[in-house]
Amino acid sequence: MSAEKQQHPMDLQEPDPTGNPSPAIAKLSIDGKTIDLPVVTGTEQEKGVDITKLRAQTGAVTIDPGFANTASCLSDITFLDGERGILRYRGVPIEELAEHATYTDTAYLLIHGNLAPQRELDQFSGRINQKVNLPAGLEKFYDCFPKGTHPMAMLSAMAAALSGSYPALLNPTPTREEIDEVIVTLLGQFPTLCAYGYRKGQGLSLIPPRQDLAGVASFLHMMNGRPGDQQDPNPVAVNALRKILILHADHEQNCSTSTVRLVGSSRANAFVSIASGVAALWGPLHGGANQAVIEMLEQIRADGGEFSKFIRMAKDKDSGFRMMGFGHRVYKNFDPRARILKASCDEVLGKLGIHDPLLDLAKQLEAAALKDDYFVSRKLYPNVDFYSGIILRALGIPTEQFTVIFALGRLAGWLAHWKEMLESPGFRIGRPRQIYTGPTQRRFVRVAQRG
Ligand code: CMC
Repeated sequence: MSAEKQQHPMDLQEPDPTGNPSPAIAKLSIDGKTIDLPVVTGTEQEKGVDITKLRAQTGAVTIDPGFANTASCLSDITFLDGERGILRYRGVPIEELAEHATYTDTAYLLIHGNLAPQRELDQFSGRINQKVNLPAGLEKFYDCFPKGTHPMAMLSAMAAALSGSYPALLNPTPTREEIDEVIVTLLGQFPTLCAYGYRKGQGLSLIPPRQDLAGVASFLHMMNGRPGDQQDPNPVAVNALRKILILHADHEQNCSTSTVRLVGSSRANAFVSIASGVAALWGPLHGGANQAVIEMLEQIRADGGEFSKFIRMAKDKDSGFRMMGFGHRVYKNFDPRARILKASCDEVLGKLGIHDPLLDLAKQLEAAALKDDYFVSRKLYPNVDFYSGIILRALGIPTEQFTVIFALGRLAGWLAHWKEMLESPGFRIGRPRQIYTGPTQRRFVRVAQRG
């Protein structure tokens, strides 16, 4: 976001339709005092009550567990309408990007705000391509992870470890050039880190990136190729993975992106900010759901395929079981990414000549859940993670590696948000308030041993 373009919330207010120049306001009364709060309207007419002066004027703060009603920033990057199932990156519908764009087109669009002319794109991918080999010595780190370490743990640790190899990119107040450089560095290194984590975890030899292949193909080569292999990966697999990466590339202020922003807001460097995003993504309620969905489907199959028992369990709060790949904080009608991926599942498996019984099971489970009042009344629909795992299985990617693929896609979004935050004039460290509910002041008294 350019400094000229970024505006203070007050500047974004909707003009009054009656021509009255006074800005839109919300009124809040507390302890007998009423104050005016500015109402900010975004370019898609979303409204937000600006409470930045609330505490100074009233002494009160707002409470919003899970930040379900809190806009933490103004952002030009992604628009999401959960009621209408709309997702657009910089205004471009996700459906068009999934159909026609490369991952590099998408990353450039997210990070720099516009679709690039070919020459700029070539420069951008050329710079990324120069960064695909890991810095000297870093490969050895993989040997230190205990056997069985999850690839997301390795990815987070290795992303943070990159900070040791790039001391020139740790400036807490980076210049525009330094921001661009760290972005291409991470875009170049990440696929290699993702693939190496998997290969090392499996005890397989490392396959270096191929600079003659485009990013997605080179990644598949590093994952599943053979050392010295010059055969290009199957184009069906490359295209399927391209689509998955684009569909995961950004999702506005989700848990991991908010984490990247929060960590980055302390002016921690980009490597550790991204490492923290990987950590946040790992959880099963977020990116880890793609692994959990396949494990759930396998569990249902092992149980004889009787999914109604699992639907019952999902409805029973005491069971501790949730229908993985279902529900979303924002989508309350359908997740447009899930729609694309469901269609892609049939297409990819058909083209690769694979019949996966888990796909049949997933479709039956979806159909049954969508007829069930529990899911209908709570607006719980399949999300992006419900079908992505079935495609990844067909591409020969092991279940444990699924969330790493999510991270690989999401990297562009994390970087776009990190850059946008640093370049925003209203930039401040993230530091929420709380309402304290613990004991009031009491004395320190050593507790006598009982009995
Ligand atoms: N299975 C059963 N019940 C559910 C589920 C589910 N998957 N998701 C939500 N509910 C119920 C929940 O128990 C609650 O019921 P009640 O109103 O009776 O208490 C109601 O639906 C609202 O749920 P919530 O937990 O308040 O919703 P949330 O917005 O806090 O959580 C979610 C969203 C995605 C974490 C949640 O739907 C979930 O746990 N889903 C399964 C995990 C999953 O698939 N995560 C991937 C999300 S998409 C990828 C990404 O962007 O991260």
